[in-house]
Amino acid sequence: MIVCVCRRISDREIARHARAGLGFDEIQFELGVATQCGQCEGCARDVVAQCSATCPTAHIKRADHPMEGSPWNPLSPSLQASPAA
Ligand code: FES
Repeated sequence: MIVCVCRRISDREIARHARAGLGFDEIQFELGVATQCGQCEGCARDVVAQCSATCPTAHIKRADHPMEGSPWNPLSPSLQASPAA
């Protein structure tokens, strides 16, 4: 699909550059995307964000304990039995 009509640049071309590790500004400089009317900038940025090789797992968060921060955490001090007196 053509993303930038002015420069005839496809989503595949943008994605290929993004997967190679280039950011939007670098892709813009390299291909000229979004340098004329600018109507394609949002779509081009979306393609870059979806294909970015710099942080492909940014949506994955690591937790030391899966229940950490949860009100149902069995390790929470408030849920542990108090020591016998
Ligand atoms: S559509 Fe990309 S600059 Fe015009």
